Amino acid sequence: MKLLIKNGNVVTASDRYTGDIFVADGKIAMIGHDLPVTADRTIDAKGRLVVPGGIDAHTHLDMPFGGTTSVDDFLTGTRAAAFGGTTCIVDFAIQNHGGSLRQAWDTWMDKARGKAVIDYGFHMIMREFNDSLSREMKDMVSEGVTSFKLFMAYPGVFLQDDGAIFRAMQRSGEVGATICMHAENGLVIDELVKQALAKGNTAPKYHALTRPPRLEAEATYRAICLAEVADVPVYIVHLSAAEALEQVTLARDRGLPVFAETCPQYLFLSVEDYDEPNFGGAKYVMSPPLRERAGQEKLWRGLKGNDLQAVSTDHCPFCMNGDYGKVLGKDDFSKIPNGAPGIENRMSLIYDGGVAEGRIDVNRWVEICSTSPAKIFGLFPRKGTIAPGSDADLVVFNPDVSRVISAKTHHMNVDYNSYEGRTVRGVSEIVISRGEIVVENDAFHGADGRGEYVKRAPRD
Ligand code: URP
Ligand code: ZN
Ligand code: ZN
Repeated sequence: MKLLIKNGNVVTASDRYTGDIFVADGKIAMIGHDLPVTADRTIDAKGRLVVPGGIDAHTHLDMPFGGTTSVDDFLTGTRAAAFGGTTCIVDFAIQNHGGSLRQAWDTWMDKARGKAVIDYGFHMIMREFNDSLSREMKDMVSEGVTSFKLFMAYPGVFLQDDGAIFRAMQRSGEVGATICMHAENGLVIDELVKQALAKGNTAPKYHALTRPPRLEAEATYRAICLAEVADVPVYIVHLSAAEALEQVTLARDRGLPVFAETCPQYLFLSVEDYDEPNFGGAKYVMSPPLRERAGQEKLWRGLKGNDLQAVSTDHCPFCMNGDYGKVLGKDDFSKIPNGAPGIENRMSLIYDGGVAEGRIDVNRWVEICSTSPAKIFGLFPRKGTIAPGSDADLVVFNPDVSRVISAKTHHMNVDYNSYEGRTVRGVSEIVISRGEIVVENDAFHGADGRGEYVKRAPRD
């Protein structure tokens, strides 16, 4: 399939110009004007932005967690991502206690193969660290798993002590991998949870009250200190609190290789949402929790000034209704499965709240939603930009139309949308993955399982 996209306003992280893009064999072949080519299909993109496909570097599809499993699998989740203009995800494989990294990788490859409709890679969650896992980290890097997620939260499930974290960091430095850190002080949070429950405080809002921002800031600072001593870069995932951002800013001002992402939920939703009646606050039970509204502008400023480099979704959907969803915590907030949907809404939300509201420019939107995640996680220049030789993962984005977000119309396999009723300016009209139109006219045109595993490069 040879595709010509004409007259679009081509936007990358650094440029904006009117031009034509010729796509052949799944790659961007030529960029220019009046290209001497013959195409099977020509798209007139006049009045539209043509941008690199979104890269969501933090998703949890088909993930066993909190006594249940996230309800989007690699088919429904990646299809919803495509509808929203995301053409590549990096999901998380999970090593079991006593299990190997290879087993985890095989399990997650099996989950994705035959289902994913856009390209995907994996980070590896490590629940423990020992000599055998240390050896395997190098094997994983050879397979293209070039980042490892460690947890300072969820004692008994994912948490590792500082010694194990430090050793995994050192090893990651040796093998050219990046450490992704869930930075919350899980041991202290557990004490606060016990105290809240002992007082009969069982409602969803206590999820936030028992995970105060200072405990995210403390863990962020600790992660940065450990990484500094281990002499490795660290990437803080799902940063939610302005207090944690302060720690990242201080570290970056000292010249340390510290990176961080935030997520749309922390930019648009707030702790007040936990008061939604009839157990509605459970929709927003995720970790870290939603924060005070006052911190949101600080996160936007962090995105603008590059103290935050990326926006990912942490898409981890559980239904409100049915036996295996949020209802598991009806009488005890600590049993509500942690996570929320968002994979479909990221590009439009960040365009609307960022570009349309004048907080960031359109280049920065492309950068935080695609280019930076590609660079940080070893996908660039294959993905994350529009250049000859890059994968033709492209979005024809209409900045002049609005859409109302709703669970009634979204494509995620979950019975609520955290942004229900919100109008967003900017819609992904045509979505192209490796040269193939997968979404057009609000319909999906790709085949199940057409997505390919992407082997990510280690750090230089
Ligand atoms: O609440 C969340 N974030 N669920 C997904 C797991 C994680 O910690 O990222
Ligand atoms: Zn996490
Ligand atoms: Zn996550």
